[in-house]
Amino acid sequence: MTDHQQSVLHPAGPDAETIAQLAWVMAGGAVLIFAGVMVLCVMGLRGRRVVHARWWLWGGGIALPVLVLSALLAFSTLRGAQLSMPSSRHAVKIAVVARMWWWEVRYTDPAGGPDIVLANEVRIPVGQPVYLGLSSADVIHSFWVPALAGKVDMVPGRLHGMTLQADRAGVYRAQCAEYCGQQHAQMALHVVAQSGPEFAAWLALQARPASPPPASDSLAATGRRVFEQQRCAACHTIRGSAGVQGGLGPDLTHVGSRLYLAAGARRNERGALEAWIADPHAIKPGVRMPASADLSRADLHALAAYLEQLK
Ligand code: CUA
Repeated sequence: MTDHQQSVLHPAGPDAETIAQLAWVMAGGAVLIFAGVMVLCVMGLRGRRVVHARWWLWGGGIALPVLVLSALLAFSTLRGAQLSMPSSRHAVKIAVVARMWWWEVRYTDPAGGPDIVLANEVRIPVGQPVYLGLSSADVIHSFWVPALAGKVDMVPGRLHGMTLQADRAGVYRAQCAEYCGQQHAQMALHVVAQSGPEFAAWLALQARPASPPPASDSLAATGRRVFEQQRCAACHTIRGSAGVQGGLGPDLTHVGSRLYLAAGARRNERGALEAWIADPHAIKPGVRMPASADLSRADLHALAAYLEQLK
């Protein structure tokens, strides 16, 4: 899967196309006005007198700005009206809850089972509008995938809707766009756009509860015991694992299938996972996850192996 730039100027969806066009036209208008004013300044400094002062006042001070600004206003209003409205009638509906400093992502199981909950990753089918219901569990955050759509603020106590559509498959980085505390900068999310069948297969896999580590994988089995001893279940949920139903931290049911860890802070790899568990504060100072300084290297290794095979 290709990683696309986190850029408004590389749009990959209908709304992002509109926004990029608005940005270019506004920037073009601003450059023209700036150039015109500079030419007039130079002429003024040289003491050239081309027309009467009164014409400068009426023409340059009133007529020109009214014409140019009205044209830009009309363009931006008409073009802006073409941005998609949030509609909960879209086939795919996803709830995203912003938290300090990660994203909880929730899908309804098409088979009628419990909700499918993951973290920091939104998967969508290519070429299809998708409804996102956005809310916040603590302070104001803002949801922004620059290559796909505009920003939508997430205000505690309110539900905000938006339509998201990607016209090309790939991974699009999103960033919290409202200052929300110490780790605001490391509050990223990745939107993964896949073909319809790939998306359906992924969703079916995510709907399944986690299976226990296979008997042949003794390292992962040891990791599971370490997970229990460390009381990870006080905060995390693993569907299918009895008693692991904490609601404070990210759901870990299929954590091994995610591309990134800790809201985009690291790629999801064994070494990064071990470093994160051992001392999350070294990577994201201020996070709620406690360090596991008492874990031996072997236990840490086993714990990471257990989590990694939760796919
Ligand atoms: Cu959340 Cu900034």
